[in-house]
Amino acid sequence: MRSLLITGGAGFIGANFVHHWLAQHPDDRLVVLDALTYAGNLANLEAVRARPALRFVRGDIRDTGLVERLLREARIDTIVHFAAESHVDRSIHGPDAFIETNVQGTHSMLKAARTVWLEERTVPRHRFHHVSTDEVYGSLGPKDPAFTECTPYAPNSPYSASKAASDHLVRAYHHTYGLATTTSNCSNNYGPYHFPEKLIPLAIVNLLHGRELPIYGDGRNVRDWLHVSDHCRGIDRVLERGAPGEVYNIGGGAECQNVTLIETLCALADAAFEQRNDLARQFPDAPAARGEKSASLIRFVKDRPGHDRRYAIDCAKAERELGYRAEVTLEQGLRATFQWYLANEWWWRAVMDGSYQHWIETHYR
Ligand code: NAD
Ligand code: DAU
Repeated sequence: MRSLLITGGAGFIGANFVHHWLAQHPDDRLVVLDALTYAGNLANLEAVRARPALRFVRGDIRDTGLVERLLREARIDTIVHFAAESHVDRSIHGPDAFIETNVQGTHSMLKAARTVWLEERTVPRHRFHHVSTDEVYGSLGPKDPAFTECTPYAPNSPYSASKAASDHLVRAYHHTYGLATTTSNCSNNYGPYHFPEKLIPLAIVNLLHGRELPIYGDGRNVRDWLHVSDHCRGIDRVLERGAPGEVYNIGGGAECQNVTLIETLCALADAAFEQRNDLARQFPDAPAARGEKSASLIRFVKDRPGHDRRYAIDCAKAERELGYRAEVTLEQGLRATFQWYLANEWWWRAVMDGSYQHWIETHYR
């Protein structure tokens, strides 16, 4: 039986991971530590809130004393560290929060783990799993081979630079102090509870409202899409089978240009409105409600500064050593995600009524 501390567990991937872990490991105990920034949302944990195995603590990962107390009190033996500032566009407008949370926050987590696990020896075995990103490897040309765990780091945005710095700190705490760490670097996630500032949920919500679908630059940038359930399965494999000190790439094997992705979502919307009359009543401002093409909303807008052209993940190591394999195809995943947003209007409306809307107004209009 494990006792886990999950940082950022009220965010998109963290919350999906909490759902995954409770379903797959019902005997384990979970403490979620989350500061509930604009991206953290307790509604993401609503379905599991009453589970006795789950405890939620609102707090900051930079509060090293708090993290130490939680590690002692709950005899935590496994940390899964998701908490971060995660949006590239925000890091361009305001990098400071990214240094504070992603670099200093990760260092605070490592310090607490070192004190409690290595000095006080509260548990016989421990694991510090750090969740990172493929963006640390930089940008690929159209014919370059996919990122492996040996690809040199070349981060291009304040976000990816802050994640790269945190990865190096995790590596250093393993090599210098013997902390049993693992790191996973994964590609673009999508799925339920995805905050509607990121491309896929933003596009879904906008097309349902008849708002423009902004595509940066020429729309030919490529991302390697990973359904969040596959990511959670991948992290589970790392915790169960991964070796301390190792790094594993987790990907979906689903490279797609942004413009193609948006056109696919538009086609899904058009088909859904054609099949279900009630959708036109629920979302009267959607072009599809009038029998028009959702793709008419596509707008090519000014490019993101320093926009990485292409990401692609080679996850042969995770497949070979952990038995990891992505199970959800991009087509299945997009369809399921679109359906989830249709069925969970309450969730995204609540998210959009808050600070998200304020931020969009300040930075985009
Ligand atoms: P998210 O922005 O949806 O959630 C981040 C969570 O961290 C929020 O709940 C927020 O409240 C919490 N948080 C932020 N600062 C905190 C602090 N100081 N103390 C405690 N909690 C704090 O992010 P996400 O998309 O779920 O990403 C989770 C992790 O996965 C991040 O480390 C991110 O870099 C990494 N990652 C994300 C993706 C992706 O596609 N979303 C891909 C690769 C890696
Ligand atoms: O690759 C992993 C990374 O994926 C994670 O580390 C980040 O936390 C996560 O936010 C994501 O970063 P991206 O910048 O790739 O995701 P985003 O959804 O912001 O953008 C995806 C692509 O779509 C990117 O090429 C930029 C483009 N884009 C994005 C938005 C929000 C648009 O064209 N229009 C938009 O409105």
